[in-house]
Amino acid sequence: MSGLSKKRVLLIIGGGIAAYKTLDLIRRLREKGIAVRAVMTAAAQHFATPLSVASLSGEKVFTDLFSLTDEAAIGHIELSREADLIVVAPATADLLAKMAHGLANDLASTLLLATDKKILVAPAMNLRMWLAAPTVRNVATLRADGVIFSGPGDGDMACGEYGPGRMSEPLEILAAIEAALTGDTVLPLPAYPRADAAVAGALDGRRVVVTSGPTHEPIDPVRYIANRSSGKQGHAIAAAAQAAGASVTLVSGPVALADPAGVTTVHVETADEMRRAVEAALPADIFIGAAAVADWRTAETAPEKLKKAAGAEQSLTLVQNPDILAAIGWRDRDRPALVVGFAAETESLIEHAQKKRLAKGCDLIVANNVGRGSNVFGGEMNEVTLIAADGSERWPSLSKKEVATKLIARLARQLNEARI
Ligand SMILES: Cc1cc2nc3c(=O)[nH]c(=O)nc-3n(C[C@H](O)[C@H](O)[C@H](O)COP(=O)(O)O)c2cc1C
Repeated sequence: MSGLSKKRVLLIIGGGIAAYKTLDLIRRLREKGIAVRAVMTAAAQHFATPLSVASLSGEKVFTDLFSLTDEAAIGHIELSREADLIVVAPATADLLAKMAHGLANDLASTLLLATDKKILVAPAMNLRMWLAAPTVRNVATLRADGVIFSGPGDGDMACGEYGPGRMSEPLEILAAIEAALTGDTVLPLPAYPRADAAVAGALDGRRVVVTSGPTHEPIDPVRYIANRSSGKQGHAIAAAAQAAGASVTLVSGPVALADPAGVTTVHVETADEMRRAVEAALPADIFIGAAAVADWRTAETAPEKLKKAAGAEQSLTLVQNPDILAAIGWRDRDRPALVVGFAAETESLIEHAQKKRLAKGCDLIVANNVGRGSNVFGGEMNEVTLIAADGSERWPSLSKKEVATKLIARLARQLNEARI
């Protein structure tokens, strides 16, 4: 037996007359000790029977995409990848067209699109089909994609014409298969940068505290003062910091979001509870105050539900809540190296945000316009401007997740460059 004896070929048989020659190919592959698992298209089964293919290959023949997992406990991804090489013989004009265009509407074409292995095709068709402009274009595309071609050769066609389009003889295909199997058959995955690649590991060993969501300030046992913050941005920041390797504490007001995986989440209701939870989570390297903390609370919380008196007005006396951001920004002891605040403004965004940064002792303010029509509260997108001591930076409209990743990347860079 040759060094190919442990190799496996996934053989896709297309619907052409030359399918009869493929039976001989299976026999010769097995003589070399190469295992063959066959897939037949619907059309192929008009030219050869699954029974004869199964008998020659000694393995179950696959024909239907949707019965894969039920019948054989093997999914199409597994089937497309367990082989060392995929061979298509005969490769019909139709299969070449599907491959060139990435169609995946049956088992054969889905496997061809899902595979991570080299593909070798042995085209077989009438010469006019082979020379037709669409086939010529498809073949050029497939060659550029790295598909290996064996043939076709010139010869007499089953239809009585003479020319190119005749499937290579089994021994020629076998030689091409052997050559393909001796090289590296796994195709590299096309480069696709991870969304969080910019920050992976950048905050290893760092502690980050993030606040998120609104606060609820009780009026009486059933009513409270709230705001429209959904917590999506703050939660995304906590998740991005965690993905960057930080140990993260998220102090969250009442939101309808799941706690981010791997993040210590502390649930609070009021601004006062939030302040205490943040202080308990210090020391930290970075504090990011993304919560929409209520500025005011009622001077007193009614112990019982307030009753409506007919026609009478009801007024609430409000007192200011603790300013968590300023308390952290101006902290003498244990001040995080970077303190970041959010400014949700409805007018004069930059001017107000600059003032806020100075007033609260922050290193950075992330300013966003939450005015009418901005759709920031509760939405998936955010358009922010970063305001630092040395200037401002406007980011395009991004998903809240992208804003989070970019922000964490920037903070990590700042922290690491400053060697804090
Ligand atoms: C008798 C007969 C012979 C055929 N021979 C071929 C052929 O050699 N090559 C080809 O590309 N198509 C041939 N076709 C057409 C294909 O069978 C048809 O395009 C089919 O849709 C291909 O399906 P598949 O690519 O899923 O196997 C033939 C059709 C018939 C009826």
